[in-house]
Amino acid sequence: MTIKVGIIGCGRQAPKHISGYQAYGNVELTVSDIVNDSALALSEKFSTRVMSLDEIINDPEIKIVSVCTPVNTHDEIITRLVENKKHFICEKPLSTSQSKLDSINAKIEKNNLVGMVGYIYRFASAFTLGKKFIDKVESSENNISESIDKAYFRIGGPGSHAAWQHKKDQQGGAINEMLVHMLDLMIWYFGNIIDIYEVKKQIHYPARIINGKTVNADAEDYVLIRVKTEKLVDVTIEADLISSSFNQYVNCSGKKSSFTGSIQKTIPTCLGAENSKLDGPSVHIHEYRNLYIDQMKYFLDCVLKSNKHDKCTLEDSINILNSIQRIQNFN
Ligand SMILES: NC(=O)c1ccc[n+]([C@@H]2O[C@H](COP(=O)([O-])OP(=O)(O)OC[C@H]3O[C@@H](n4cnc5c(N)ncnc54)[C@H](O)[C@@H]3O)[C@@H](O)[C@H]2O)c1
Repeated sequence: MTIKVGIIGCGRQAPKHISGYQAYGNVELTVSDIVNDSALALSEKFSTRVMSLDEIINDPEIKIVSVCTPVNTHDEIITRLVENKKHFICEKPLSTSQSKLDSINAKIEKNNLVGMVGYIYRFASAFTLGKKFIDKVESSENNISESIDKAYFRIGGPGSHAAWQHKKDQQGGAINEMLVHMLDLMIWYFGNIIDIYEVKKQIHYPARIINGKTVNADAEDYVLIRVKTEKLVDVTIEADLISSSFNQYVNCSGKKSSFTGSIQKTIPTCLGAENSKLDGPSVHIHEYRNLYIDQMKYFLDCVLKSNKHDKCTLEDSINILNSIQRIQNFN
């Protein structure tokens, strides 16, 4: 049977979601955007149908929806989707409101739905390899001082894609756009934040030229945090919207083991370990892979085959939001 899927928001992320659905096969896609011309252009490129948001929400045959709109629209769109019993995958971060996240989560559980958030780094082979290695190090070390005890997470990009990315009231900024990805990895690897040592937030470029217009940026374009996590790892994360091109990597180390990995295929994964029971030292080169194919397959298999949904869950987003709130409130 054909799988009917709605895509809401036809900007930068939507084509990536579409590529994942089309690779899964047997899908009929319907796109929607508040700017109808954007929906029409995407529809022409990928041979999809076009509908309004209301039409998608009221169509009983569309049970699966991707939300690819700016952050400040997510709460309302997702609430309407879950009230109308649609499974969804929403781009990160899902919400910046604790009460909205709790209410959406309760409705998902009540209506027995799959609600997933697009933390795409979870699908990168470098980071799944890193997770296995770190877990192995942790379980093989008898002496806690020998396990991984410090980590540095880096992510940066140029920003200036859309005005909302740099506006506080539209939930833009380096925290929501970039840092959240690294917080998700940090919590996955090392647990939640238990202590904060330092938070630095800055606006380096208050005037941005975006689509030929000057935009007054009032959301941070640089953030640095240093925290301690539940697994007693000292973690520094640096995220920005000021780098000349996208760059990202993670480096974690203890006295006798280390892991370096990136979502960028130009950076190999390096595992280093003195313990002979571990896999290191080794170097892994990753071929290019469209991670959205894996992300959409995971999501669709959770919906259609009732596979266990334990990746990029609402609970993960609640943990990430708790961390963000602690970071925002730190003086
Ligand atoms: N996973 C990643 O690596 C990654 C990368 C970039 C962006 N994102 C996230 O994806 C989301 C979208 O970002 P983007 O860069 O694609 O944004 P974008 O500005 O390129 O596109 C957003 C689209 O949504 C439309 N839109 C706005 N409000 C709408 C509404 N109420 N109903 C329907 N359409 C609406 C806009 O007209 C626009 O076409 C954000 O949450 C962002 O943080 C994720």
